[in-house]
Amino acid sequence: MEHPHCSGVEPEALARALLRSGRERKFPASLIPAVNVAEVPQRSPLRYPGGKTWLIPHIRRWLAETSRRGPHPLMMEPFAGGGIVSLTAVMEGLAERALMVDLDHDVSAFWRSAIDYSDELMERVAAFEPTRERVQRLAETAPTNVVEHGFRTLVLNRTRRGGILAPGASLANSGENGKGVASRWYPETLCSRLEAIAAYSEQLAFLEGDGLELAEIIAVRDDTCFFIDPPYTAAGGKKAGKRLYVHNEINHVRLFEAMADRRANFLMTYDLSAEIVQLIRRFHFHAVTVTMKTTHHERTPELVITRESLFT
Ligand SMILES: C[S@@+](CC[C@H](N)C(=O)[O-])C[C@H]1O[C@@H](n2cnc3c(N)ncnc32)[C@H](O)[C@@H]1O
Repeated sequence: MEHPHCSGVEPEALARALLRSGRERKFPASLIPAVNVAEVPQRSPLRYPGGKTWLIPHIRRWLAETSRRGPHPLMMEPFAGGGIVSLTAVMEGLAERALMVDLDHDVSAFWRSAIDYSDELMERVAAFEPTRERVQRLAETAPTNVVEHGFRTLVLNRTRRGGILAPGASLANSGENGKGVASRWYPETLCSRLEAIAAYSEQLAFLEGDGLELAEIIAVRDDTCFFIDPPYTAAGGKKAGKRLYVHNEINHVRLFEAMADRRANFLMTYDLSAEIVQLIRRFHFHAVTVTMKTTHHERTPELVITRESLFT
């Protein structure tokens, strides 16, 4: 086995080699397979790059296994994005309340309007028919209030290629059924998801801020479970995080320390990389791998990390 820091070795390749080299006992494959996203309820109106719908069966198992009596009092999602885990936890009665946090101002406007001004947002969604010109005009117009801003985020998210909001993202070209920018704009579906969010708005809260700092503060409470899906840019590698999210730099050591020092109940997901493999070992956490199989290619395994062993 080569030393992790030897030069010329790609971090990704090294991580895979670590798994193959007999240490895979530490990171077995999860007993729960990644589900096809069509098999679980789609609750988020946002199409989120790196969205975690496929992980929902793991989330259910984690929350069920770690609850003492009934639902967890509070779920915190410090890097919320599309918020699918918070929505699922609250809507399935696995958590009483969820606190979603994201640093992205556009994502924040969407969640604030979805939670606090759902009627106005739904009205706009129902009335909008996207064309390239309308979407471009919307992108160029500065919103004057939170509902306009949240609506703009939703439209751009659903009309840009891959749902990417970061600068440089382009509009979908042909899209599904050759419908172009409108190919993922389903007003009825979006309104019914927004309606469901409105029905749970008393149990959902969103904060625009630094998820790491807030997680460090909230982790002193012992009634909170953390779902952690940070943007990840592998050290030395060119990972997707930079292209997908406006905010993509996180101090991963600090994040691991926050969870370890406060003995928090957490579930984290990361792409498999040498840096993260080392952090898991250093903090004596447990990890399993989950490999997503797509029709075109097999993706790099993702790590699901918990304090105790839950998925083997
Ligand atoms: C991998 S995505 C989360 C995807 C989400 N789990 C889902 O299923 O949709 C990471 C998110 O972290 C946000 N982010 C980046 N840095 C942050 C920070 N310091 N504090 C809070 N959020 C941050 C990004 O804006 C992005 O929305």
